[in-house]
Amino acid sequence: MTPPLAEVEVRPAVGDELELTCERLVHRGLGLCHHQGQVVFVFGALPGERVRVRVTAARARHLRADVIEVQRAAEGRVVPPCPVFGVCGGCQLQHAAYPLQLGAKRGVLEDELGRRGLAVPADTRVVGSRRPYGYRWRGEFHRGAGGRLGFTSRHGYQNVPVSACPIHRESINAALSGVGRALDGEGDQARTVSLTAVDEGVLVQVRPDSGASSRVALAAAEEGGPLLGTESGALAYLGRSFRTTANSFIQVNQETLPDLYEPVLEWLGPEVDSQLVVDAYAGSGVLSVRLADLGAQVVAVESNPTSARLAQLHAQMYGRGRVEVRRGEVEEELPRLRDCRAVVLDPPRSGLAPQVRGWLSLAGPKMVAYLSCEVSALGRDLETLCRLGPYRLERLLLVDMFPQTYHFEVAAMMRRS
Ligand SMILES: C[S@@+](CC[C@H](N)C(=O)[O-])C[C@H]1O[C@@H](n2cnc3c(N)ncnc32)[C@H](O)[C@@H]1O
Repeated sequence: MTPPLAEVEVRPAVGDELELTCERLVHRGLGLCHHQGQVVFVFGALPGERVRVRVTAARARHLRADVIEVQRAAEGRVVPPCPVFGVCGGCQLQHAAYPLQLGAKRGVLEDELGRRGLAVPADTRVVGSRRPYGYRWRGEFHRGAGGRLGFTSRHGYQNVPVSACPIHRESINAALSGVGRALDGEGDQARTVSLTAVDEGVLVQVRPDSGASSRVALAAAEEGGPLLGTESGALAYLGRSFRTTANSFIQVNQETLPDLYEPVLEWLGPEVDSQLVVDAYAGSGVLSVRLADLGAQVVAVESNPTSARLAQLHAQMYGRGRVEVRRGEVEEELPRLRDCRAVVLDPPRSGLAPQVRGWLSLAGPKMVAYLSCEVSALGRDLETLCRLGPYRLERLLLVDMFPQTYHFEVAAMMRRS
C-alpha cells in the first residue's frame, strides 16, 4: 500500500537548507549533526551550536553541508582572521578558539581508537602548538589565473589566490609577492612553487620545471625581502644546526618539534643504551642523532635519496659514530635486522605498509614508538599491532603541529607483551 503523502520522508537534496544542532566535532574538522536520523557533516559548525546549513552533497549514507547562518553560537566561536577561510582548502578550524580545537582533536583520537576497540590511556597529554598562527615553515603555492599564487579551494580544484597566509611563517609571506612576480616570466611548466623557511631566509623550488627555481629565486631576491636560495639551508634543533633542502621532508612546525620528539626519547631512554634501535622513515635523521645521544646504536632507514644524504651528513656531524644510514625502503630493510631493541616509526600519511605491520607482529622488537600525522592510518595500524597483535599500547601523546587545520600528530608507545 502506498503510504500517505505526509508520511513519505523526503531526503534533502543538494542546495536544500536545513536547521540543525551540532553535537560534536569529528574527523576533518566537521560538525556532526543529524537530520531525521540521517548523519549530516557540516563545515563551519561547532558543538552545541544551532545553525542553518545548505546541503552541498547527498550521499547514500550521509549528507554534507556548509553553515550559512549561526543562530546560536558556541562560546568558543571566534572570527576567522583569514579572508579566504572556508573558500581555501587549507584550514578547517579558524572559527574555533584554540582550546576548543585541542579538545576536538583529542575527541577525534578517542573516536578513532574507540571504534577499533582501543582506549586512549588516561595519562595522555594534549600539547598545543607554541604558536597557533605563523607556524608553518614550508608552503606549497599554485599559480592560478593571472599568475597569482594561491591554494587549492575547499570544494575542488580552483585556485584561491592569497597575498599572505596567516598559518605560514612571516618570511614565507614576505617572499610571496616577489616570487609571484618572478614566476610571471616563466612558462606553463612553472606551476607550483614550494617555499621553505630556513635560518638564512627562504628556499625556493619551482615544479615541475625545477630549472626555473634559480631564475625565480634570483629575480625575487633582487626585489629585496628575505634572502632566497635554491640549494640548502639550516634548521636548528636544540642548539644544533641541521641542513635541509626544498626536496627533502621537514616537519612543518619546527618550533613544536621538541614537544613531539623529546617525550618519545624519554619513553625509550632507560632501555636503549648500547642497544640497536631502528629509526624507520628517518628523513634527514634528526631523531637518529637524538637516539644516538641516548647511547643507542642507530640504523636509520630512509628512501628519499636527498634526505638519506642529509641523514648521512648529520650522522657524521652529531652521531657520535653510532648512526648508520641505509637508503632504502623500510619494508625491505626491517626484515634484515636482527636483535633490535626498539623501532621508531614515522611513516608518511598512508601509515605502515602491510609488510611492515606483518613483520612487526611476527618478529618486531620489544618496544615500538610510532609517530603519526594521520589518525585513521594510526587507528588501523594500532588495531593490527595492539588489539589483534602482540603489542600493548602503553602511552599516547597528541601534539598539535597543525593548528587551524584538522590534522595533528600522535606519538604512541607500544610494548611487546
Ligand atoms: C613523516 S616523514 C618523517 C621524517 C623524519 N622522521 C622526521 O621527523 O623528520 C616520512 C619519511 O619517510 C620517508 N619514506 C616514505 N616511504 C618510505 C619507505 N617505504 N621506506 C623508507 N622511507 C620512506 C619519506 O621520504 C620521509 O622522509
